[in-house]
Amino acid sequence: MNDAVLSAATAVLVRNWRGRHTVPAGGLYPHQWSWDSAFIAIGLRHLSPRRAQQELDSLFSAQWADGRLPQIVFDPTRDDYSPGAKFWRSDRIPGSPPVSTAGLVQPPNHAWATLLVHESNPSESRRRRFLGRAYPSLVAWHQYLHSRRRSPETGLAAVVHPWESGLDNSPYWDSPLENVAGSFGDDVPRPDLEHADATERPSNREYGKYLYLAARYRDANCDDSAAACPFRVEDPAFNAIWARSELALAGIAEELGIAPAYDHRQRSRDITEALESLWDEELGTYVARDAITGDLQKYRTVSGLIPLLLPEIRRGDELDALLRGPHFELGTSCLVPSHDLLAPTFDSSRYWRGPSWFNTAWLLVEALTGRGAGAEARALASSMAELAVLNDFPEYVDPHTGEPHGTRIFSWTAALCLDLQTRLIDGE
Ligand code: SER
Repeated sequence: MNDAVLSAATAVLVRNWRGRHTVPAGGLYPHQWSWDSAFIAIGLRHLSPRRAQQELDSLFSAQWADGRLPQIVFDPTRDDYSPGAKFWRSDRIPGSPPVSTAGLVQPPNHAWATLLVHESNPSESRRRRFLGRAYPSLVAWHQYLHSRRRSPETGLAAVVHPWESGLDNSPYWDSPLENVAGSFGDDVPRPDLEHADATERPSNREYGKYLYLAARYRDANCDDSAAACPFRVEDPAFNAIWARSELALAGIAEELGIAPAYDHRQRSRDITEALESLWDEELGTYVARDAITGDLQKYRTVSGLIPLLLPEIRRGDELDALLRGPHFELGTSCLVPSHDLLAPTFDSSRYWRGPSWFNTAWLLVEALTGRGAGAEARALASSMAELAVLNDFPEYVDPHTGEPHGTRIFSWTAALCLDLQTRLIDGE
């Protein structure tokens, strides 16, 4: 099994490599995606630390003047994704890079991935001055989040579009999207449906809102001010990943032997503390907050479990119990469902409204390992490998049956299985 996992995962990453970056999937996602690239680098480092560095370097070279790392860097030869380069016309937006990109962002897992890539081969990393190049980009990216996305009142960064969370159609966004007055209408381009069944993707109604919000943001030159953004939501996973990456930035500055640009550990503690305002006592989980209305979005989702990654999170024991209990059924479910198994809004096949994903499983393997639950972490890692290899590295699976959904030959599924296989399972 071990060799089968490694060789099959390697084949996926080789097939999806495009010279300087890896596409998430050749048909459905034919460009470079921001948080995908960071997850992919975490796996690639075991095959080629140099290729893993290139994966991140190519994303950093698309950084905007204000520090943002874009959600998508477009491949100019591919015109079959919507909304693509022609929609964004990023060259018209002040501060955009010379390459064509989307204006939105994605969760900040890059500093964490950068440190992991370095650690896979420190001498090769030092020889190529990888961390020295990455650190200023990562600091600018985190400062962008701190200065442009963080609310001084709550201390948390907001996403201005569901795509920025990476969890596109989570129930968290239902009510904030209803409050967005405009829409592109239901008749929106859906090239994604050529590659995945409509029952496994967000609805046309959601796409109408997605395109409206993206066009409005683009037309405002990607202005993040409150007045310009009719959708602003504070998401627990986005902020927990940010706090985790601040710890990695502290590690990078230490490795470089330089004075940090600011106190990364203190910032991580501040974000961790700020997450407490998202705790919902009744549901026993962190939830998202609509930053416009102030309302907590009362759903149990995998996003609310991700703060378990943070060593200083206050409600770790409650989250641990939630993960193991009837709403997520760790050990009984296939991986970890993206939404509460018992909720009326649960849907076992539709993108982020129920199916289990491999990146959130990887994050929870890390969380369980950090909490000393090594046996559960390894069991979760083994079931990731098994489900991935059996089903051609699917994008997501049914949490009850393991049936694969979405696209196949999906890069982060391969990369993260490869990482855990090498580090946790074979490394035992
Ligand atoms: N996840 C989005 C899509 O489905 C983009 O980030 O295309």
